Amino acid sequence: MKIVVTGGTGFIGSHTVVELQEAGYEVVIVDNLVNSTIESLDGIEKITGIRPAFEKLDLTDKERTFDFFKSYQGIEAIIHFAALKAVGESVFKPLEYYSNNLNSLMNVLAAMKEFKVDSLVFSSSCTVYGQADTLPVTEKTPRKKAESPYGNTKAICEDILADYSRAEQQLKLIALRYFNPIGAHPTAHIGELPNGVPNNLIPYLTQTVAGIRSQLSVYGNDYNTPDGTAIRDYIDVVDLAKAHVVAIRRLIENKNKQNLEIFNIGTGGGVSVLQLVNTFEKATGKKVNHQIVGRRAGDIEKVWADTTLANKELGWKAEVSLEETLRNAWRWQEKLQK
Ligand code: NAD
Ligand code: WQD
Repeated sequence: MKIVVTGGTGFIGSHTVVELQEAGYEVVIVDNLVNSTIESLDGIEKITGIRPAFEKLDLTDKERTFDFFKSYQGIEAIIHFAALKAVGESVFKPLEYYSNNLNSLMNVLAAMKEFKVDSLVFSSSCTVYGQADTLPVTEKTPRKKAESPYGNTKAICEDILADYSRAEQQLKLIALRYFNPIGAHPTAHIGELPNGVPNNLIPYLTQTVAGIRSQLSVYGNDYNTPDGTAIRDYIDVVDLAKAHVVAIRRLIENKNKQNLEIFNIGTGGGVSVLQLVNTFEKATGKKVNHQIVGRRAGDIEKVWADTTLANKELGWKAEVSLEETLRNAWRWQEKLQK
């Protein structure tokens, strides 16, 4: 069964391609390599023994997107990862973010109608919840106004899916709201490749330990949390990848209960920045040079997922421990140094 994975050379996409291939699916990756490299294919091939088909394509180009769908017959489903994802950058380049993230989704949806592909899994984000009034957040927790243009693209994409699913009853759509994806494949053949100075905690931390950065700044210790640092739900990227495989299977087997379903994908538990630093040190035996600084603008205090729905409906739950995912992240960083 042929699955198209847009953004499949990226961080989460490449791990998902591995899991799909290991589950027996045939994968075609579409990516314009704006935030990933073709070497991801080598990593995927090393792990699975299969080099996935690859098409270099900018999904904002509707004509070329349609040509691609025309040339690949028998597509069963799509996983749409392709998007620009740097929160800070989106504040300075809002039009680029709206244009890329919205047009690529709309072109994929239009091509699905034209070429009669009904199933799609979409990458959404816990960012749509903002600072929720009650924790953990369930899928019914009201969304809050986005803090950034990037976050807003995810909320608008969810709205597009909701409207389109009402208009096109044959569609089967799943939006997965990822919490904070971290880690790397345990083989260290694939992982995260941040562009320039990382904004996210884990790549910044591992680059600090590797000596690329002098010190990790811990943004704020005056939050209303047990140790004062902010809390997130860090989900291992292989666990996250597996959630896509079960979502795809649910759609292909027509087990979905509505034509748009939304699931939280997290561990169900919150971890503070300092807890994470300490766990990294214990798991790897490496010291993390860090210093408390002021809060980062736009950060929320705490969020973690209620994953009951994904547990029950998808039969999925996170399995990789925080220690293991942090060891994998470090192994990947060491590999990048070589
Ligand atoms: P990534 O940047 O590693 O992967 C995204 C891929 O999409 C890249 O390979 C990029 O080259 C490609 N791409 C972007 N625009 C494209 C276009 N117009 N045409 C074709 N390819 C295009 O990011 P990731 O961390 O793997 O994220 C995957 C998805 O998950 C994104 O939609 C992101 O918004 C979402 N998400 C990520 C996180 C996170 O923290 N990493 C959290 C929640 C949601
Ligand atoms: C995690 C925690 C920081 C860096 C972002 C996006 C969100 C989603 C996931 C895509 C926070 C602290 C960080 C550092 C620190 N992405 N931190 N020092 O902000 O929770 O979420 O990625 O959808 O939309 O906003 O992730 O990894 O940047 O931060 O202390 O150098 O680590 O303050 O508490 P965040 P993050």
